[in-house]
Amino acid sequence: MINLKSEEEIKKMRSAGKILAKTLQYLKEIAKPGITTKELDIEAEKIIRKANMLPGFKGYNGYPATICASINEEVVHTIPSNRKLQEGDILTIDTGVICDGYNTDAAITFPIGQVSKEINKFIETVKKALFKGIEQVKPGNKIGDISFAIQKLVESEGYSIIKKLTGHGVGRKLHEEPTVYNYGKAHKGPSLKPGMTIAIEPIIAMGSGEIKTLSDKWNIVTKDGRLAAQYEHTILVTPNGYEILTQID
Ligand code: MF3
Ligand code: CO
Repeated sequence: MINLKSEEEIKKMRSAGKILAKTLQYLKEIAKPGITTKELDIEAEKIIRKANMLPGFKGYNGYPATICASINEEVVHTIPSNRKLQEGDILTIDTGVICDGYNTDAAITFPIGQVSKEINKFIETVKKALFKGIEQVKPGNKIGDISFAIQKLVESEGYSIIKKLTGHGVGRKLHEEPTVYNYGKAHKGPSLKPGMTIAIEPIIAMGSGEIKTLSDKWNIVTKDGRLAAQYEHTILVTPNGYEILTQID
């Protein structure tokens, strides 16, 4: 069942989303060569708790940290560690914030220092794919319209959708219905209705799109060792379109 959020619930998600956006923005500023992903995790948790909110991932299915910090061929769910960021890496930070029992979820990918034109274009395309998906959000459209728009852009640039990883409804729980695929057919799937809140999250590979989970049972990497990137926002369906609850200024 897809639950529609009341104005009161939306207010909580809006508050959570603001702190989440602020957290990602700050982490991006301090993510320089030499800093460890564990240090980024500590900073994220500080910002969230200072706002009297909770890190949404910590403890979720036993996940031990506030952020997922995936470097290069790491795709998602990489537990922060003592690994230092290096010039030329690309970093995906995914995190969640809970305000008064309501979850928000967002992610960004960005380069550490200078990367090649090809890599910049890859990251920019994943971001563009997210916004192509978001543009489809309005009552009257369906989840499949989002999925189709993302797939079309990503594949036209020659990259691969990592099909095993999807977006989702979000709210009282981090993962709710519906599943928001990053591929599929337009005009198919559940209808978008005002009050729905969904996390749209294209997760894209430069290479084949096949993945494997490492022995820590969390870290997911590309099988071919090529780069992966992810952008994610929590989106509210409004009577006229959408509101990005995790908007980064
Ligand atoms: N951001 C992830 C998602 O969108 C959730 C991370 S789950 C955690 O599905 F366990 F790693 F926290
Ligand atoms: Co998500």
